[in-house]
Amino acid sequence: MTKYILRLTIFILLLTSCSKEIQQTPLTSEEISGERLWERISRESHYSEYSFWPGHEGINPGQAPHGVNHRIYINKDLFNALPIESKSTPYGTIIVKENMNSDWEVLKITVMAKVNGFNPEGGNWFWAAYSPEGEVQAEGTPKGCISCHEGMKSNDFIIIRQLDSPLE
Ligand code: HEC
Repeated sequence: MTKYILRLTIFILLLTSCSKEIQQTPLTSEEISGERLWERISRESHYSEYSFWPGHEGINPGQAPHGVNHRIYINKDLFNALPIESKSTPYGTIIVKENMNSDWEVLKITVMAKVNGFNPEGGNWFWAAYSPEGEVQAEGTPKGCISCHEGMKSNDFIIIRQLDSPLE
């Protein structure tokens, strides 16, 4: 009997370890900062363990001002919610974009994090840009990020994919 329970436990552990990303409680508007967000995406559960947007996997060509190549990761909060009919992402959503050059070297990391009550007029997005080592280069509500992305306000400021498009 003990053997059976042991086997069952191992089986369940194996099943649940397929995705290594640990789902976290959403960051709050009181705690959010560039440094806090970096800690979340680098130490608490590394973003490289997130999923790709279904239909936009791996390295793809990107547009200025982002790198000529990019890789976009989305955390479980967003992945599990897709497709989103209301085109409004859930609180806790984190999108990480690796901005790469033509040799696929990461030059910059740009991040959008959806934080309840952080900036209602800007879709409650916290924006951040980092060096590959995690040095904060921009954070909060940078005009540059918002002025470009707000062209896609109807899609919750997200450019790369329509939130309600069926999964591929
Ligand atoms: C001049 C326009 C422009 C500016 C400024 C800009 N972006 Fe983007 N961003 C884009 C485009 C276009 C995409 C779609 C992917 C691509 O083509 O590279 C994108 C994609 C993204 C994505 C992936 C999710 C999505 O919306 O598709 C993130 C995350 C992101 N940008 C963060 C930022 C941050 C953070 C800043 C400011 C530091 C910023 N962006 C500034 C144009 C811009």
